[in-house]
Amino acid sequence: MCGITGYIGFRDAYPIIINGLRRLEYRGYDSAGIVLYNEGKLNLVKTKGKVSDLESKVANSIETGGTLGMGHTRWATHGIPNDINSHPHVSQSGNIVMVHNGIIENYDTLKKELVNRGYTFQSDTDTEVLVNLIEEVQKQNDVKLGKAVQIALNEVVGAYAIAVFDQRKPDEIVVARLGSPLAIGIGKDQLEYFVASDASPFIEYTKDAIYLEDEEMAVIRLGRKVKIRKIKDDSLVDANVHELKLNLEQIEKGGYEHFMLKEIYQQPSAITDTYRGRLLREEAIIKMAGVEDNMKRFLNADRIIIVACGTSWHAGLVAEYIFEDLARIPVEVEYASEFRYRNPIITEKDVVIAISQSGETADTLAAIKLAKSKGAFVFGICNVVGSSIARETHAGAYTHAGPEIGVASTKAFTTQITLLTLIALRLARAKGTISSSDFRQHMLELEMIPKKVEQALKSDEHIQKVAAVFKGATNFLYLGRGYNFPVALEGALKLKEISYIHAEGYPAAEMKHGPIALIDENMPIVVIATNKGHYDKVVSNIQEIKSRKGKIIAIVTEGDETVKDIADYAIEIPETEESLTPLLTTIPLQLLSYHIAVMRGCNVDQPRNLAKAVTVE
Ligand code: M6R
Repeated sequence: MCGITGYIGFRDAYPIIINGLRRLEYRGYDSAGIVLYNEGKLNLVKTKGKVSDLESKVANSIETGGTLGMGHTRWATHGIPNDINSHPHVSQSGNIVMVHNGIIENYDTLKKELVNRGYTFQSDTDTEVLVNLIEEVQKQNDVKLGKAVQIALNEVVGAYAIAVFDQRKPDEIVVARLGSPLAIGIGKDQLEYFVASDASPFIEYTKDAIYLEDEEMAVIRLGRKVKIRKIKDDSLVDANVHELKLNLEQIEKGGYEHFMLKEIYQQPSAITDTYRGRLLREEAIIKMAGVEDNMKRFLNADRIIIVACGTSWHAGLVAEYIFEDLARIPVEVEYASEFRYRNPIITEKDVVIAISQSGETADTLAAIKLAKSKGAFVFGICNVVGSSIARETHAGAYTHAGPEIGVASTKAFTTQITLLTLIALRLARAKGTISSSDFRQHMLELEMIPKKVEQALKSDEHIQKVAAVFKGATNFLYLGRGYNFPVALEGALKLKEISYIHAEGYPAAEMKHGPIALIDENMPIVVIATNKGHYDKVVSNIQEIKSRKGKIIAIVTEGDETVKDIADYAIEIPETEESLTPLLTTIPLQLLSYHIAVMRGCNVDQPRNLAKAVTVE
């Protein structure tokens, strides 16, 4: 969703901010803006469209000097994407300027009060309401900017990350957070500071960063240490300075045409990083501190409830099969957005596993808070270190997939499944629901998955050819059974989100209960037909499609001649344990979506209307 970046110090702010905005593009946005303070003047440019549009507009309209400034990428919530609704927003006096992520829910009431006090508004945004509220508070109370921000935020209902400065006091930026992430980069000797939604805009300048927690704020002043305060009661909190592990290479495309392709190809190493140090095959041990320390909670659980959204929810569905199959623990998988609003029955004997790549998804976060309030033990599976979900859960484990920048999740999915498999195996061993030889066999197979993913990636050229045949299709069906039913859902999601082709995933046997009516010679159907599980049943389903002239793209185990003979196109994956097949079957589906989207001229890394981290509900 929206991205914030800001700079105060001794360097030219413009290149830092514009580069920062480029790095935040992956979050998803529809407009962008920048403000620079230079010699007593604010230079502000905003535009609908991309950061490149902003750059062109800046080049034609303002001086780019100044060592203080802020930038923003906006994902519209209140008001359509246009130049006026873009951020930054300036208060009525023209002095206070602000960028904001999130939603001010009571903005309408606040706006009416401000209108009664003589304020007029240019935009339809809640942000313009907040910046004017800060101005009004300052006027009424004759306080400094930091205090005015604090008082105003105590009147606000909603979620936010904000950065604000006053052009009459250009040596400070005030920042605050509730529900949306905000990082502060600390320059050497406090001679410069950076502000951003994540650390990517400033990693070449500093490795020291403070991540604000919810309900915290800070006045960042040059030459002074940052003090963090609670917004509610002004109490001081310890500022934890983190050493950033991120490096530039990780957030660049590294020779690939798109981040998505880079991330698809990174899966062998990402999966290895997920199990490294956890899967100790020679000792026949799987260990993860978060699980070991809470083993009793897991073993005494009546059931596991998995909450997540989108692709992470699909990983949760795969986990349902794995946990029930291997560890014999009942599992329910819930959309976080539904779970949080349906008064679910949760007890202290439930273990809730929250899965999230970004660790910032608003609905998942809310589901976690609900589960905690009912006494459940909540375990988080996140990729982004230090994210809100990682902090909000009782315990957890990171996937260690490295930054995922393409909006379409790829390596996040396979690393989540890897981690969930490790947990299921560990619990199965502890419960005695898996024999020692099966346990060893699974470990061995899991360890071989990266090599097999590499092998699956070798079908890329063949998949490109298949993509070329079907790039003009208007609909797709994806079918799978058992462990590969969630993969069918994931394959369909991947295709729709980046190529804008309508696609649906179905359990193969459900086809006869409705979707079969859609099948004719124009309908491509991707069928996952590995030689494990319900192979014969899936072969029958393929025959049924064939008799209705559907075009079959089959994902098959290498060496399978039966399905190859029937299918129009077959893509091979190496053989593995049934429970691990999703880690391989998903690879050709990712590549197929990717190539179709590229061939259709779509913006693969930043599909329309989508955001990488959905921080509003
Ligand atoms: O960061 P999260 O894993 O919590 O995100 C959840 C979904 O928004 C995400 O998986 C989304 O569905 C992906 N764009 C799909 O590729």
